[in-house]
Amino acid sequence: MKVIYPGSFDPITNGHLDIIERACKQFKHVVVAVLQNNNKKSLFTTEERIELIKESCSGFDNLEVDAFSGLLIDYAKLKNSKAIIRGLRAVSDYENEMQMSLANKYLCDEIETFLMVSGTEYTYLSSSLVKEIASFGGDVSNFVPKPVLEALKTKFYKL
Ligand code: COA
Repeated sequence: MKVIYPGSFDPITNGHLDIIERACKQFKHVVVAVLQNNNKKSLFTTEERIELIKESCSGFDNLEVDAFSGLLIDYAKLKNSKAIIRGLRAVSDYENEMQMSLANKYLCDEIETFLMVSGTEYTYLSSSLVKEIASFGGDVSNFVPKPVLEALKTKFYKL
């Protein structure tokens, strides 16, 4: 089965990698889909985010990285996928994920959302947290893959 893993990925963190790695073991084909959202201010451009994901996930041969805009279910249909996967870091994620999965189910009954519980070491991790720590010169080397660490250094010039 082909599954879509959608998100902002600004930038990809080790928490996202954990989900990708496990999804690649469970599904035949995984499409990491970067949301092109002009309303959300991002540190990295869509192209940069895609490149960072590709560089960070080079070991998986059933993985594809792509961008999408508009409705997620329309993109899933375009990709011929009937499944969406999302990570659940903590109970606080549940309400939002529940709302999104029910909205998507309402829009297209045939597409199922799978929620994968994040590894315990990633429950507090988010892209914003990483960017904030990095912007003040803090050490984020345990939070992000190497290519992202290098890209953050370039953006903030001070790690
Ligand atoms: N590890 C670490 N961090 C994680 C994580 C994990 N496993 N899972 C999520 N996060 C973090 C992200 O880093 C991000 O952090 P930030 O807010 O600090 O940047 C945050 O959780 C939100 O995650 P993200 O994956 O970007 O989700 P989102 O809530 O912005 O939703 C979409 C993204 C793409 C799923 C959703 O907006 C969408 O489907 N949009 C298309 C429009 C649509 O179809 N709407 C109707 C249905 S809802």
